[in-house]
Amino acid sequence: MEERILTPEEMTSDDFEKSIRPLSLSEYVGQEELKGNLDVFIKACKLRNESLDHVLLYGPPGLGKTTLAHIIANELGTNIRTASGPSIEKSGDLAAILSTLEPGDVLFIDEIHRMPRYIEEILYPAMEDFELDIIVGAEGNSRNIKIDLPPFTLVGATTRAGDISSPLRDRFGIVSKLNYYTYQELEQIIKRTSRVLEFDITDEAALELAKRSRKTPRIANRLFKRVRDFALVSGESHITKAMTTNSLKRLNVDEEGLDSIDTEYLEALILKFNGGPVGVETIATSIGEEVSTIEDVVEPYLLQEGFVKRTPRGRIATEKAYTHLKIAHNKTLF
Ligand SMILES: Nc1ncnc2c1ncn2[C@@H]1O[C@H](COP(=O)(O)OP(=O)(O)OP(=O)(O)O)[C@@H](O)[C@H]1O
Ligand SMILES: [Mg+2]
Repeated sequence: MEERILTPEEMTSDDFEKSIRPLSLSEYVGQEELKGNLDVFIKACKLRNESLDHVLLYGPPGLGKTTLAHIIANELGTNIRTASGPSIEKSGDLAAILSTLEPGDVLFIDEIHRMPRYIEEILYPAMEDFELDIIVGAEGNSRNIKIDLPPFTLVGATTRAGDISSPLRDRFGIVSKLNYYTYQELEQIIKRTSRVLEFDITDEAALELAKRSRKTPRIANRLFKRVRDFALVSGESHITKAMTTNSLKRLNVDEEGLDSIDTEYLEALILKFNGGPVGVETIATSIGEEVSTIEDVVEPYLLQEGFVKRTPRGRIATEKAYTHLKIAHNKTLF
């Protein structure tokens, strides 16, 4: 399957993300409760002159975890060191990062659920007592050494909170879930991006884009950028609603933010299998996709938005799916 413009995961063409990341809590749109709490915790630890408690951020891709980790360091006025779970393979890798930290620094570990277990165990005393316990030397001639670390804040990010071991999870003082964004919040994010990239968009157009962005800032920004390309090439100085709907039509993104593979899936479910229940393997075969693609990248949004239901006997299409595809159905079904 080719790369989908609607994937919430990072694409290579998302390089520009760094340039449009908000740098402070006040510029970060939405997630009000989380932002409010962080603001208090950050102010309090500054007043006490201590490091901020370790923070675990979890939630679906593209909702702003990495962005928030950088904001935390900015608001604290400290440096940030970044690493990703799978890239820390040897205890020496982690020791090397930890030993460069300065007091109060943020260590950001992305995909923290993919960190090897033995690395995790080195992290426990580092998080709890700011102490590094490592074994040095070859077998037969090895010894334990303890190194004091400066107080630091570990910010961990994960899309799979369930895959984090409970001893690790328990060592985070602040555990926060990021939620999907409302249309109004996405509209604000799109307008902010428009200001940063210096290409105007009307309010109407921003709201239209917001509605098709699957509640995810990363997708909103990516769609903005594509629509801007269409506008530029047609010689327009700003993005209008008509420009938005035309461009998205060409990109196969519909009013609900569904693309052709979503529609193909729903049409198969309704037209070939009478709306279900039918097994996911059967649907996958009928549209020529891998089961894993269907389960990991197609179904999550359809399930979350209530186009499909998962039952013990298989998938069923909901009334919303029939209505959206404009397929008549027997009302007594629902
Ligand atoms: N609350 C927000 N306000 C403004 N922009 C945001 C917000 N959240 C995310 N963004 C934008 O969306 C993009 C993706 O965010 P980010 O990379 O932080 O997501 P993530 O949760 O780390 O994703 P992943 O799970 O794939 O690592 C960024 O370019 C950022 O500018
Ligand atoms: Mg990230």
